[in-house]
Amino acid sequence: MRRSRAFLALTLAGALVATAACSKGSGGNAEAKVDKVEIMSWWVGPGEEPGLNAMVALLKTQHPEITFQNSGVAGGAGTNAKAQLATRLAANNPPDSYQRHAGQEIATDIKNGDVEDLTYLYQRNNWNSVFNKGLLETLTNNGKIYSVPVNIHRSNLLWYIPKTLTDLGIAAPPKSWDEFLTQAATIKSKGKTPLSIGPAWTQKHLLENVLLGELGVDKYNGLWNGKTDWTGADVNAALKKYTQIMSFSDLASAGADWQPAIDRVIEGAAVYNVMGDWAASYFDGAKKLKFKEGWNVTASPGTDGVYNFLSDSFTLPVGAPHKAAAEIWLTLCGSKEGQDAFNPLKGSIPARTDADKSKYTGYLETALADWGNPSTKVVGSLTHGVVANDAWNAEIDTALGLFIKSGDATAFASAVKTAYEKNK
Ligand code: GAL
Repeated sequence: MRRSRAFLALTLAGALVATAACSKGSGGNAEAKVDKVEIMSWWVGPGEEPGLNAMVALLKTQHPEITFQNSGVAGGAGTNAKAQLATRLAANNPPDSYQRHAGQEIATDIKNGDVEDLTYLYQRNNWNSVFNKGLLETLTNNGKIYSVPVNIHRSNLLWYIPKTLTDLGIAAPPKSWDEFLTQAATIKSKGKTPLSIGPAWTQKHLLENVLLGELGVDKYNGLWNGKTDWTGADVNAALKKYTQIMSFSDLASAGADWQPAIDRVIEGAAVYNVMGDWAASYFDGAKKLKFKEGWNVTASPGTDGVYNFLSDSFTLPVGAPHKAAAEIWLTLCGSKEGQDAFNPLKGSIPARTDADKSKYTGYLETALADWGNPSTKVVGSLTHGVVANDAWNAEIDTALGLFIKSGDATAFASAVKTAYEKNK
């Protein structure tokens, strides 16, 4: 019950910016060839690609006639992939399918007429009755669905190494950001970095979870539909807290991507990192550390019982050169077999409700239980495309870059508010 109410809030937020799709024309290039499929994602490198590789292996077994062309572009949260994709879409040169987040991110493509309506694939595969209901609502735009989700990720997580905490005499990870700040002073005095951080998108990822932890679910949801005033006193206080938190990070030396930020936690140079649960794939797979003994995770401060969700999905671009092969790829993405091969290696839980639970062990067993708990409240991620459209998100990026340099919370809040009014 609570679950669908939380999702409803997201859907309503989406409706504010949802616009009817306009048609772009197929470009006359959509052949029924099934010899090749070109897929664009940002799942490149450790903690990112093992899940994709598992799906590609399945595709090869089921369809040996199809050559998989991996046009993955490295860079967490798709920063680089999205830029390359934009150039290709503008040139009418799309891949056969590309990764897009469920929610407002894909709404931009729909508005531009870049993606096909996939309602027929949903009907053909009976997906309306097997995909998570709230997720289906988030995916639906004016009664149609334009992408196929492979997973559900959680953004609001705090990662740490139990031994580091023990060595520092810290009994447990912080339950609130104030508690974090108290711990951080001690951690810093002992010569360690309290919180590791990476490039700009990871700073935004931290921001959304500080806002969630400080404001709570209702006010957080209100940030994305105009109901919470960005320039109000409570948001200002949360933004100031963010500045304080960032002052305990290694921002000055940060760069690279999310994996090097996690590496600093693993090495013990830093104590905590806020990241999505793709990090579980990195700890388990690339780093071969054991859940609970070698690494551990908890809800980011102030967000216990909340699932800040995002979902990776795949599209059928208008004018895809290998449309029939793309449909085969999309069908695999939506299948039980595909999702149960992909998700255990990706660090995410399936978008389907009929997955084989025995395949989800360790952290993922707890993620499935949290997601399925009727008292869990679901909210949507800013950084990963759920709650803000691309135009607004881009303005938030620019304003955040300035805010992190200046510390001027008032200027940031009013820039975000103005950008919302402009782009809603
Ligand atoms: C997210 C994406 C995840 C993961 C992460 C880090 O945007 O949804 O699947 O890849 O970025 O790159």
